[in-house]
Amino acid sequence: MLNRRNLLLGAGSATLAAGGLSALRASAGVSLEINSRETGFDFGGGLTQGLVSTADGAPPPVIRLKQNEAAQLRFTNGVDDYSTVHWHGIRVPNAMDGVPYLTQLPTRRGEAFDYAYTPQDAGTFWYHPHCVTMRQMAHGFTGILIVEEEEDPGFDLDLLLNLKDFRLGNEAELLDYFTPRGAARGGTLGNVMTTNWQRAPRYDVPAGGLVRLRIAATDTTRIYRVVLPDVDGEIIAWDGHPVEDPIPWPSREAPLFLGPGQRVDVAIRVPDGGAPLDILGMHGLEPMTFASLNPTGTSLGRDLAELKPLPRNPVTDFDLASAERRDLIFGWSPDGMIPNNGLCGSVEYTFWSINRDPWQGDASGMGPLANLELGKSYVFRLQNESPNDHPIHLHGLVFKPISSNQRKIPQNWTDTVLLHKNEIVDIAFVADNPGDWAFHCHVIEHQKTGLSGYIRIS
Ligand code: C2O
Ligand code: CU
Ligand code: CU
Repeated sequence: MLNRRNLLLGAGSATLAAGGLSALRASAGVSLEINSRETGFDFGGGLTQGLVSTADGAPPPVIRLKQNEAAQLRFTNGVDDYSTVHWHGIRVPNAMDGVPYLTQLPTRRGEAFDYAYTPQDAGTFWYHPHCVTMRQMAHGFTGILIVEEEEDPGFDLDLLLNLKDFRLGNEAELLDYFTPRGAARGGTLGNVMTTNWQRAPRYDVPAGGLVRLRIAATDTTRIYRVVLPDVDGEIIAWDGHPVEDPIPWPSREAPLFLGPGQRVDVAIRVPDGGAPLDILGMHGLEPMTFASLNPTGTSLGRDLAELKPLPRNPVTDFDLASAERRDLIFGWSPDGMIPNNGLCGSVEYTFWSINRDPWQGDASGMGPLANLELGKSYVFRLQNESPNDHPIHLHGLVFKPISSNQRKIPQNWTDTVLLHKNEIVDIAFVADNPGDWAFHCHVIEHQKTGLSGYIRIS
């Protein structure tokens, strides 16, 4: 069918649609190839060597799968480190989760690992290594993964913004991604903030059109404070799932906090023309620009009301009346045990603890943080006893924050909840996916220095 939309998509907007990212699209029976490799890239101040992306170039490609269609993804490790790939937010069978020693052995250079799963949830997810995670992620190996709805919701353009910082020196060389001082506090921040590895890129968007913005925070450390332009729009999905409890449109006074691992989908009705729209970050004294959207062409004359609401994903509702309760306290570490991550590297420090013990990592020899019964409902009380923020992430399942001691927390399905200073958040979920599931802070320096364990569902 030839309508304005198809014309627009057919007119070579494939790269535009992805924000200049290359795309790998699943097709039945064909394995997508993800070949990691070392790469150089110029962020604007000279060539930076030693980055990690894939054979498709840099940044890592966006992977597009279809809801309820089987996907095969072959990961071939092309860097010297051992590695694995984890599909953040996707509810996969445990063996496909990409967590070394917990669900698979690390993949060595030149070796391949075949991942196969059928995504049941449509939405915005992402992928990253889970072995030598600190280095490979800090150096760039973080990509967006989109699971398309079975029925097209009707946007004119799908624009992805992968937010990621790099830490570069004067000669554009990579600086240390890990500092003990940073790890013991909020984490070591980058000094070059990028969107799709560009600084403040400008994208053409169709005037009068409907754009789906998918913003993913894939940095190892930074909690982004996002401000959206003052236009007609709505936050339609949060961490991969359609919003059920509305999230207010962020402003400079009240930006949207997006912690490492989190994603937000926004529907925007582009004005019929006029100045570029800036997506801002409230970092430092002046707001900085993540990206600007340049209304282009004659108005498509669309209306937000023309969008089909995103269908709810098949998540099972918990039962609070029968839910069992567990407490998890996140704080500093009482002493300095060295976590042992086998072939996946160790940073040789502990600064953080769960329930007052520094945990030894995703596949901790200390056993699971909790043993849960398959099919039962649970409420976890997550308590941050520190002045630092912690984006707490659970693999394999989704949960809903149901209360906070500090704020009215939107109750939406998620895989990562950001705990602010001294915040206590109750989360609820059904333990409906059997296996050992990593559970950790997504500030990777925290994850690697004690704030990481796993839960067992059987
Ligand atoms: Cu996004 Cu355990 O990770
Ligand atoms: Cu994950
Ligand atoms: Cu943390």
